[in-house]
Amino acid sequence: MKSLAIIGSQWGDEGKGKITDLLSQKCDVVVRFQGGNNAGHTIIVEDRKIVLHLIPSGILHDHCVSVVGHGVVFDPEAFKTELEDVLSNGIEVNSNKLRISGNASVITMYNKIIDAQREAKGPVKIGTTGKGIGPAYEDKISRKGIKLKDLLDKDVLISKLKGSLSEKEHLLEHLYKVEYPSVEEEASRLFELGQMIKPFICDTFSFLDHAVKEGKKILFEGAQGILLDIDYGSYPFVTSSSTSYGGIFTGAGMPSGKVDEVLGITKAYTTRVGEGPFPTELFSEVGEFIQKKGGEFGATTGRKRRCGWLDLPLLKYAVKCSSLTSIALTKVDVLSGMDELKVCKSYRYNGEEIDCAYPGIDLSKVEPIFTDVAPFNDDFKGELSDNLNAYIEMIEKELGIPVSILAFGPERSEIKFRKEFF
Ligand code: IMP
Repeated sequence: MKSLAIIGSQWGDEGKGKITDLLSQKCDVVVRFQGGNNAGHTIIVEDRKIVLHLIPSGILHDHCVSVVGHGVVFDPEAFKTELEDVLSNGIEVNSNKLRISGNASVITMYNKIIDAQREAKGPVKIGTTGKGIGPAYEDKISRKGIKLKDLLDKDVLISKLKGSLSEKEHLLEHLYKVEYPSVEEEASRLFELGQMIKPFICDTFSFLDHAVKEGKKILFEGAQGILLDIDYGSYPFVTSSSTSYGGIFTGAGMPSGKVDEVLGITKAYTTRVGEGPFPTELFSEVGEFIQKKGGEFGATTGRKRRCGWLDLPLLKYAVKCSSLTSIALTKVDVLSGMDELKVCKSYRYNGEEIDCAYPGIDLSKVEPIFTDVAPFNDDFKGELSDNLNAYIEMIEKELGIPVSILAFGPERSEIKFRKEFF
C-alpha cells in the first residue's frame, strides 16, 4: 500500500491524532487537505504534550515531509504560535520538512471578528471554534479570498484586502458595530507574518505529483469528521470544508486518481461538540459517565463534548460518503464495565424505518431505535472477552468492512493493529 487516508467517521474527535501519529512514522509524506486550526491533535512525545492544530503530525518525525495543501484555510498567526511551540519542544522544522501551498487561503483578522460576532449575535448559533474558518472559506468561494502567496507582495495584499473588506465593512460597522483593523494595519500584520512563512511556501501539488511517481508512502490526514462535512454533514451545523474522502482530490490533489485505503476513525460511542442534532445523545447519568470517563473535552476549545450511543445509520452513511475500507474503533475501554450497552441500528423517519442516513436527512426528526447488546468488562491485558468480540463483529457485519485497529487507551501498547498498514 502506498497511500492511506485517515478520515473521522463521526463528528470529529474520534482519536485521529494518535493513530495518525503512529502511522505517520511509517510513511514519507503526511498531508493536510482541508480545515484549518479548528482541528486539534494532542500528541505525547517523551512525556511532553504537543497540540497540533494546523501543522501535520508528520512534523514529529525527521524522515517525514509535512504538506499543507491548498484546500486548507491558514491562520498565519496561529501557525507562528504553533511553530514556536513545536520548536521549543526540540522538534526540527525546516523548508524540506514542512511545505505549505502558496495557494492555501488565509484567515484574516476580519474573518475571525465576523466568526465571533456571528456566533454572539447572529440568528443561528453553530457553536464554531471561533477561528474564522467559515468566513475564510466564504471569502474563498466568493472569490474575494487572500492566498498565502499574496502575503509576499504588500501592494497585492493591500489591493486584495481592500476588495475583500469592501462589503464586510458594512457588516462590521453597521450590523455588528465592532472595531476592526484598517487595511494598512492588516496588510502590515500579514506581510510581516508572510516573511516568516516564506521559506515553507511551495507548489505542493507538484511536490505530491513527484512523490507519487517516486513511490513514496503518503498519508492524508483528515480533520474533523464526515458528519461535519459541508455537503455530507448535518448542515448547517457543520464546518465549511469537505472533510470526507473527496476533499483530498480538491484540497491537495492525488495525481494517481485514487488513494489505496481509507481508514475511518470511529469512537466506540458517539460525541459531538457545538450545536446541532444528535440522534443518540444521552441526557442521563450514563451520558455524564461516558463524558467523564472518556475525558470528553474539545482539544481546541476545551468545551465539554456531548455523548451518546454508537449510531450505525450514521456510520453506514459515513462508509459510503468516504469509501471507507476499514475502521479503527477507538476508546473501547470507556465502555468496558458498563451495566448496559446499546447501539442504534435504525431510525424511524417520516413513518418509515431506515438503516442508513443520507444527505439532507433531518437528524432532529429521526427517532433512534436502540438494540441492547451484551455489556463487556475487559481489562485488555489478555484475550478479548466473548462479549467484546461480539460487539466488534456486530459492527463489522453492519458496516460491511473490518475493524482494522482497536484502541483502548492512548499508549502505543493500547492500540492494537489487526492489519498491517504500509
Ligand atoms: P468551525 O469549523 O469552527 O466553523 O465550527 C463548525 C462546527 O464544527 C462546530 O460545531 C464545531 O464544534 C465543529 N468542529 C470544528 N472543528 C472540529 C474538530 O476538530 N472536532 C470536533 N468538532 C469540530
